[in-house]
Amino acid sequence: MSAPVLVIGRSGQLATDLRVALSDAGRPFVQAGRPDFDLTDPDAPARLVDRVAPSLIVNAAAYTNVDGAESEPDLARALNAAGPGRLAAAAARARVPLIHVSTDQVFGESHDRPHGEDDPPEPLCVYGRTKLEGENAVREADPAALVVRVSWVFGPSGQNFVAKVLSWAAARAHLTIVCDQRGKPTYSPALAQALLTLGARMEAQGPGAPAGLLHLAGETIVTRDVQARAVLEASRVRGGPFAQVDPIATADFPTPARRTLNAVLDTGRAARLHGIALGPFGPDLETTLDRLIGPPKADAGQKA
Ligand SMILES: NC(=O)c1ccc[n+]([C@@H]2O[C@H](COP(=O)([O-])OP(=O)(O)OC[C@H]3O[C@@H](n4cnc5c(N)ncnc54)[C@H](OP(=O)(O)O)[C@@H]3O)[C@@H](O)[C@H]2O)c1
Repeated sequence: MSAPVLVIGRSGQLATDLRVALSDAGRPFVQAGRPDFDLTDPDAPARLVDRVAPSLIVNAAAYTNVDGAESEPDLARALNAAGPGRLAAAAARARVPLIHVSTDQVFGESHDRPHGEDDPPEPLCVYGRTKLEGENAVREADPAALVVRVSWVFGPSGQNFVAKVLSWAAARAHLTIVCDQRGKPTYSPALAQALLTLGARMEAQGPGAPAGLLHLAGETIVTRDVQARAVLEASRVRGGPFAQVDPIATADFPTPARRTLNAVLDTGRAARLHGIALGPFGPDLETTLDRLIGPPKADAGQKA
């Protein structure tokens, strides 16, 4: 029996889709999440890596509540920076390839074009700052690690923006959604597959094995209000919740955390170096709503 893939995180969106992808591929894996494994426990990563003796580690665990991090910076830092740093040290000691997942929110608004891997980070909130600290801690402890920044992750298994829009629309006829934050929605099952493809190349240790920083995101750039309208229309034709979207500028819609208006990642390096490109938003949204609501109804009729 080959050594298992170790996935950090159990109940989360990406962790769930990694489990599905590994099960579908028939690969042995171990998933580590609370309550058995706590990434904020300083001794836990080394103990876990010693016990599991994995062939690959994918860290899908994080403090992901962007607004919550503003009032819980210590917990966010423990989960997003200190824990990943210790995990990377354990991976390096055991010579096990590590993929660590990071975020578009390490970037700010210094320019309008998509952010490349070599653009200087400029996080605008505690979440982004702690994720950047985590990237640095991982890369310092394990220079062979791959840090993958991802963006606006959605799919059938998580509490993501798509699921939130559906739940808001079930309760309200009008949704106020920001119209000046743009990003690339990224389908979590496809992201999980791509991470495992990169991981397999790291395990093979051939020339050009992935390492360092890499951006992975879907191919379609949208603003949040456009994304919300697409979700609601796909829901309406399935007999699901529908609401009108009222656009608002971020400046007029204060939240505890300041998010970058430009969350667009340049994914050219993943395509050029690794032949990996994730797909457009529309078909992945349809698949997600097929799973969450059901197939489109023949009599969906005109727009409400
Ligand atoms: N969602 C997005 O739109 C988005 C965008 C950009 C980047 N990202 C990044 O993508 C990665 C995956 O995000 P996601 O959407 O899957 O997040 P999520 O659904 O919020 O999942 C968070 C994960 O963290 C784990 N976790 C939380 N506290 C833990 C602890 N103390 N010890 C161990 N595990 C803990 C949870 O596992 P248990 O509950 O089982 O412990 C869960 O699997 C993260 O690195 C995130 O920063 C996400």
